[in-house]
Amino acid sequence: MPDMTATKVPMTKEEYLKRVTALSDRLEAVAQDKRRLRFHLQPPMGWLNDPNGLFQKDGVYHLYHQYVPFYPQHCSVMWGHVTTTDFIHYEYHDPAIYPDTVWDANGPYSGSAFSRDGMIYTFYTGNVRYTDRAYDYITEGREQNTMLVTTQDGFHFSEKTLLMKNEAYPADLTRHVRDPQVFSENGRYYMVQGARDLKNRGSALLFESDDLQHWQYKLRFEKQPAFGYMWECPNYLRADGRQFLIACPQGIQRDGERYLNANQCGWFPLAYDFAGTEYTLGDFQTLDAGFDFYAPQAFQNEQGRHILLGWMSTPDAEYDCESTADCGWVHAMTVPRELYVNEAGRLCQKPLEELQKLRQNGEHSSFAKSFHLTTPVCFELNLKIEHPAENFALMMRESAILQYKNGWLSLDMTGCGLGRKIHGLSAPDGIWEVHVLSDTSSLEIFVNGGETVFTTRIFDAMEHLQIQFDSDDAQGTLNYYPLCP
Ligand code: FRU
Repeated sequence: MPDMTATKVPMTKEEYLKRVTALSDRLEAVAQDKRRLRFHLQPPMGWLNDPNGLFQKDGVYHLYHQYVPFYPQHCSVMWGHVTTTDFIHYEYHDPAIYPDTVWDANGPYSGSAFSRDGMIYTFYTGNVRYTDRAYDYITEGREQNTMLVTTQDGFHFSEKTLLMKNEAYPADLTRHVRDPQVFSENGRYYMVQGARDLKNRGSALLFESDDLQHWQYKLRFEKQPAFGYMWECPNYLRADGRQFLIACPQGIQRDGERYLNANQCGWFPLAYDFAGTEYTLGDFQTLDAGFDFYAPQAFQNEQGRHILLGWMSTPDAEYDCESTADCGWVHAMTVPRELYVNEAGRLCQKPLEELQKLRQNGEHSSFAKSFHLTTPVCFELNLKIEHPAENFALMMRESAILQYKNGWLSLDMTGCGLGRKIHGLSAPDGIWEVHVLSDTSSLEIFVNGGETVFTTRIFDAMEHLQIQFDSDDAQGTLNYYPLCP
């Protein structure tokens, strides 16, 4: 993560406009970079992380995100603002929320939107870091304020209201309490926030309210024994009658094939009636087995679909996540994914069907044992494997390989991942579907109806690309499309 503490003077919109105008050359240089993604959300320059405050109103999606526009030059993070009606054409606007008050001077951190009677209530964390002396920034030296702004159109926001300071959170917590998400259940309003306690145990705090303004702490969702030291970006959702808590636990050690990234991102099955304080939080399941996925946010669109966007990167990675910084930009959002619950009760992801509009004339055929295609860099490939295969290897582009062997499914990025190597997991029940979306410098692979997903950045030459499938026994059908944004 960039050090976002550099400014003592909060960054106002006026200051932002002055600085951005002086950087028009950089905008052009960024636009020329062939690694820029073609059908993913990414700002015109600078650094992006978490999706924030997502909502749809009157058919228009308002998507915000953590944004450091001048990166690699530092400034406090702000909320970048993007609109779209179809998730194919994105319009970028001036940032919506700036670090311009004493409550959020070191960055309006992540948060979410809640819609009531045509008004959008946007909650976020106002981050403040003290620099008058040395602090550990865990138990002291920072404020994480719960903030509220409202908007009707996604562009014009009310004055900022401070809802809670650290003193309003339970006394056994560190200063790390952030990323509010608000929802309603049984006619009341609830908020979850990620937290780290003084014994370094991560949890999601639950607050309740009758008016969205006054909040009372109710309980915390946590695991016994503790699961990591801090949970970032908690996200409650109820889908197909089941409850889930998505969270990003930090501090989980690698355990064989599990917890391979430096920080985790996944979901817990939850059972809670929002009446008493008893709940059941099931076992953590990863949302993404790839290399570049973190801090996702789910929201319901106007039709009630649960849409998820994630930050297509991960903090503290051992591999290179910033190779494009020399060109004035880093990171992008994943494609939007629709969440659904499969028969086994698992939270699954599939690319939003709107993305099908990107498809050009492709190839549709059956295959037995192997096939080969040459492809432009942007493509979609959907394989339906009819007889569960004992093994296969799918080579994508230059040298990314999805392999299934002895019940083990792995993604090998050694040849084109700038330090990314192999991630895998056991898949004893076989593979019946592989669905790949390839953009210039990203691959998103949805396996078995999106029960398993691999998201990764990819840095190959982007020319003379091939798709090669080989197996001893697999048969099925393939649908292949070049994609044209
Ligand atoms: C997750 C996160 C959040 C925080 C934000 C700051 O990536 O660390 O917890 O609000 O990023 O940019």
